[in-house]
Amino acid sequence: PASVGFMNEPVTDFSRAQNRSAMYDALATVEENLGNNYPLIIQDREIFTDETTLSINPARPEQLVGRVSRANRDQAREAVDSAREAFVAWKKTSPQERADYLFRAAAEMRKRRFKLAALEILEVGKTWKDADGDIAEAIDYLEYYGREMIRLGQATMPGAYPGEENLYFYEPLGVGLVISPWNFPIAIPTGMVSAALVTGNTVIFKPSGLSSVCGWHLAEIFKTVGLPPGVLQFVPGPGSETGEYLVSHPEVDFVSFTGSREVGLHIVSVAGKTEPHQKGVKRVIAETGGKNAIIVDETADLDEAVRGVLDSALEYQGQKCSACSRVIVVDSVYEDFALRLQRSMNSLRIGPTDKPWNFFGPVVDQISAQKIQKYIETGIKEGNALLAKPGPENGFFIGPHLFADLPLHSSLVREEIFGPVLVLLRAPTLESALCMANDSRYALTGGVFSRSPQNIQKVIADFDVGNLYVNRKITGALVGRQPFGGFRMSGIGYKAGGPNYLIQFMHDRSVSENT
Ligand code: NAD
Ligand code: ALA
Repeated sequence: PASVGFMNEPVTDFSRAQNRSAMYDALATVEENLGNNYPLIIQDREIFTDETTLSINPARPEQLVGRVSRANRDQAREAVDSAREAFVAWKKTSPQERADYLFRAAAEMRKRRFKLAALEILEVGKTWKDADGDIAEAIDYLEYYGREMIRLGQATMPGAYPGEENLYFYEPLGVGLVISPWNFPIAIPTGMVSAALVTGNTVIFKPSGLSSVCGWHLAEIFKTVGLPPGVLQFVPGPGSETGEYLVSHPEVDFVSFTGSREVGLHIVSVAGKTEPHQKGVKRVIAETGGKNAIIVDETADLDEAVRGVLDSALEYQGQKCSACSRVIVVDSVYEDFALRLQRSMNSLRIGPTDKPWNFFGPVVDQISAQKIQKYIETGIKEGNALLAKPGPENGFFIGPHLFADLPLHSSLVREEIFGPVLVLLRAPTLESALCMANDSRYALTGGVFSRSPQNIQKVIADFDVGNLYVNRKITGALVGRQPFGGFRMSGIGYKAGGPNYLIQFMHDRSVSENT
């Protein structure tokens, strides 16, 4: 069912001079305020701690974006207590009232739109377009989940029977823990936090350390729109300490996680342990990684295919869970496609993304850069580097890389690299291309470029992925239009931005009265 009255937030048109100058102004303002200290938010109190996480600009590591407080165990425990206390009243608010907080947060985000995008550019190295798209997506989640909750909030009567009144309705789960990644630093936590709140839960929000200044701004927006104290706590800190402690806390009723497969699986196992007096089993919603493939068949429009693969693989330096990291090309067009793709990848401008002409920025931090570099070294040993482009020296830059002739067991073919490394695979037929595409533990996104209706139908039927795209890029799912999420090792739970998403933040109840 469509969510009544929902429309996607338009993205900003940067070909208009007034939008370009608004973005330059926002970048200048955000830069003037870099290096601030950011507190935890528990109840309604701001708490500055001695231990902090330093968030730096990956394009200019000498530039400190902010110093963010770290919650210790006592503060994390306090956050759970305060969320538990606030739950009693929050649970009783109406769906409309809760949705109104989301609509007000959306309005606040629209006001701050350029500044929030500028912050993303400086904190995690997004391009103008990707940063703007992230804020638009965050607004979409707020508007969509607000409307969805109003829809789900109507108690329904399943089947009328004389002398009996039946009710069926949803109730919140309790205290929720939201753990988010850095790569969509406002949209993803906005989605998870707003879904948990609007369904009547109280929330402890732990952002990624690499994007915790963005995380603070999200929490502060909810504070600005008057969310009652204790309903949302901002509790940043290291995943292996603060995150781990909170996941194991017996008073946390559910965990909504987006991040890597490794951490997701670990959270599932920690959350599965129950303490003697714990009342319920924690529910875990986990959206994890991908090893996504695009198939190019012999009928494909290669101009479209090259552009679609390039954007899918290299937007945001390949650091999207939806990014293409394998392109499987049918033999008869392989050489032609490989040459065109290599040339177009080689033509990209690399540099700090506060300059709008750079399509390609840094990877998020030094640890990521080192990890990606290891894959590149393996690729050079095991295959054929069709392109190995360096990036600027200062900053965590790794240029685009294209590898061919790798053995199918290579780690580059099988593992999520999460960087600008694309693997080219040759398939004799469409059937074998599909077998290769499905030969993965992940099932998140996938795509096909083809002009054959028969081939397209075959791919739709047989390509096992959560989000399949035909003759277009495989990134950039829109809320309400392409509900997003995968299965197998790509995650557990319903799709974000889709009609079933909110249900998993609640339990359903049935009441039958003998009248
Ligand atoms: P990550 O798994 O390293 O970290 C994610 C979050 O988990 C962070 O907040 C981190 O602090 C926390 N964490 C780490 N260890 C923890 C622990 N032991 N207990 C509790 N929390 C812990 O992932 P990342 O590097 O931030 O993000 C990139 C990953 O996220 C990629 O694998 C990508 O595919 C995935 N991702 C998936 C989706 C999706 O919708 N499926 C969207 C975006 C990103
Ligand atoms: N929702 C994001 C995309 O589709 C991850 O690219």
